[in-house]
Amino acid sequence: MPRPIEALIHTDALAHNLARARRAVPDSRVWAVVKANAYGHGIERVYAGLRAADGFALLDLDEAERVRRLGWRGPILLLEGCFEPRDLELCSRLGLWHTVHNDAQIDWLAAHKTQVPHRVFLKMNSGMNRLGFRPEAYRSAWARLDALPQVDEITLMTHFADADADADGDGERGIAEALARFQDATRDLPGDRSLSNSAAMLRHAATPGVAADWARPGILLYGSAPDHPQHDIAHWDLRPTMTLRSRLIAVQSLQRGDRVGYAGAFTADAPMRIGVVACGYADGYPRLCPNGTPVLVDGVPTRTVGRVSMDMITVDLEPVPAAAPGSEVTLWGEGPQGARLPIDEVARAAGTIGYELMCALAQRVPVRVFD
Ligand SMILES: Cc1ncc(COP(=O)(O)O)c(C=O)c1O
Repeated sequence: MPRPIEALIHTDALAHNLARARRAVPDSRVWAVVKANAYGHGIERVYAGLRAADGFALLDLDEAERVRRLGWRGPILLLEGCFEPRDLELCSRLGLWHTVHNDAQIDWLAAHKTQVPHRVFLKMNSGMNRLGFRPEAYRSAWARLDALPQVDEITLMTHFADADADADGDGERGIAEALARFQDATRDLPGDRSLSNSAAMLRHAATPGVAADWARPGILLYGSAPDHPQHDIAHWDLRPTMTLRSRLIAVQSLQRGDRVGYAGAFTADAPMRIGVVACGYADGYPRLCPNGTPVLVDGVPTRTVGRVSMDMITVDLEPVPAAAPGSEVTLWGEGPQGARLPIDEVARAAGTIGYELMCALAQRVPVRVFD
């Protein structure tokens, strides 16, 4: 028998979250962002749940090829554009739209021979200082692209650094400054616009200009709240799309003063039962989860005790007296009888975000698509 751990991908939840994204920006077209192998879920596994999107946005050329192989004929956008000139050949062959964020990418396009002109997304650096042309350089980049026969339509694009925060006077910035920079620099330029990620869609879609022609949700599609812990997925009407679950493989009865796991990071202060779960950091469960990280046993909320080790974690069974070897353990996602443990709560305990946990699901965990 294989180890009892497995991950489930919930197709209906993906479709639900996509519909939720559309409700946030009803007049926009919606990219499903599926970079990083669909945020760790697997592109092939999420395709059925997300195929009602208007397009797929990603980074890796091999991921674009995989989406085409699934039969997708609609738009695919490379969010970081081409990494070298010959990538343009694949863009021509597969009909990929691509981001242009620097002068070299424009030079490559100018030298590229193509029958069919390309659709490009011209990226502005509106304050994130990762990719894109600064506002003062944006118009000349646009003019260069516009003059190229290799270029068809140019969509104006930026990415917010602070969409998960509000400008509330507590040092948080929000999107106002970045939005003003983008709008000032693009005011009379023709073309579609694309500005918002999940946080902007959920929090700022009512601000004029934010929803725009194309929205680019990622994390909300995967059932994680972009502004957790301020809001949780229930607040945003999102559903978990990945469940990580396993089973108890042993139960121990502790006496007062007994220590648990490596370095005895937990000591029982009274007699208690603990369960040993077939799940560890080699499965993608964060080693940084401290004592007290939430977990469900047979759908009942309880907590981890002791250090996460490579293949096992240990959990407090006091709230679940009937638990025994074989009991179901939900590390995150959907539990039995409608119980739910959002991935954001586990991520928070580990000092990180849901994005990182879902992307870090380990290769050795068997994954099943659950329709
Ligand atoms: C350019 C761009 N757009 C959209 C997204 C999706 O962001 P999120 O997952 O926060 O919705 C990303 C992800 O980082 C991105 O880089």
